[in-house]
Amino acid sequence: MVGVDSGAWGMASVPSGASVGRHEAVELRDGVGSRYRGLGVRQAISNVTDLIEPALRGLDASDQEAVDQLLVDLDGTADKSHLGANATLGVSLAVARVAAASRGIPLWRHLLRGGSPLLPRPMVNILSGGMHAGGNLDLQDFLIVPSGADTYAEALHTCVQIHWAMKDLLRERGLSTLRADEGGFGPALKGHVEALELMVTAAERAGFKPGHDVGIAIDVAASHFYDVEKHRYGLASEKRSLTPAELVGLLEEWVDKYPICSIEDGLAEDDWDGWKVLTDSLANRVQLVGDDLFTTNPQRLGLGIERGVANAVLVKMNQIGTLTETLRVVDMAQKAGYSTIASARSGETEDSILADITVASGMGQIKIGSVTQSERLAKYNQLTRIEDELGEEATLAPTPALGAR
Ligand code: PGA
Ligand code: ZN
Repeated sequence: MVGVDSGAWGMASVPSGASVGRHEAVELRDGVGSRYRGLGVRQAISNVTDLIEPALRGLDASDQEAVDQLLVDLDGTADKSHLGANATLGVSLAVARVAAASRGIPLWRHLLRGGSPLLPRPMVNILSGGMHAGGNLDLQDFLIVPSGADTYAEALHTCVQIHWAMKDLLRERGLSTLRADEGGFGPALKGHVEALELMVTAAERAGFKPGHDVGIAIDVAASHFYDVEKHRYGLASEKRSLTPAELVGLLEEWVDKYPICSIEDGLAEDDWDGWKVLTDSLANRVQLVGDDLFTTNPQRLGLGIERGVANAVLVKMNQIGTLTETLRVVDMAQKAGYSTIASARSGETEDSILADITVASGMGQIKIGSVTQSERLAKYNQLTRIEDELGEEATLAPTPALGAR
């Protein structure tokens, strides 16, 4: 919580991920042998109260860049390991909130700075696997992109209908409808093809034409089944171990057969050569998103742009640790013609701040997980409120055009 002289206050909370990329900023936890199985954050909190607070005192809250620069300097490391990105981001976001509060305007308006607000097209988790579910899929997410929707309200409704259709389908087939980490379903399926077929059937059952009204997005999260020594991807559910080129071949096969419009982390975070093969094969047909690959880090995104790898970046604020640095990555991506997707984490809080930041920065897409559970709904609801507030002015981001890069 941050206060200013006028008496206004701003508060923010920060999320945490289960499938963390190696190059993410450090989330400071108290460590082995301490409370909460070592996951306590007393050190991060004392960094806020003892180190950040005295340094921040007297700064102008409306100067977000100066505040964030101070946090970066005070931390003094490349990965926020001194203060903890959880400490710096919490302060950074609380400052943005208090600045908006003292202007008496919503945060998304405060952050606009002359630009136009843009409602993001959501990509919604329907089936989960990997580190987010107890089933047997290696891939982490199967999502719906409501590509034919004209408004945010319609986009959300489309995804909710497909979520429900999937629930019916799983029940009929005697499969579990218990929820995975992000609120989607995590059934024990025979393999990825069954998951893709279920996605198509659920969309059709809900009355949509896959490939026309809706697309399928996948988060392969390949870093988490990559054997660095052997340079192979171990797909346990397919009982196969693949070379990078073979995995690209498999993804291509799926893109040929199913209406897949977006692939996230198709290859591992440091497999730049594999990523190049993937990009050369598929970038003109689907969105190729770097999450673990880029970790919302300007240096890594810069490398990607230079090498012509991927065509989109997943933006997770806690991977870098301040609002200003996050917005710089968005800017850099947009200038290079890369799409930007604001993303929540698997371990989320009830904070809806991501919605405001996405609308103000024009990221165009948002990935929050499923359409269940309050920590997800808080963000969808905030987007609904913003759409409502904008009225006639409300614009839903177009589905990104491919092949133009
Ligand atoms: P995480 O998952 O928050 O567990 O990292 C989200 C994602 O990989 O996109
Ligand atoms: Zn991911």
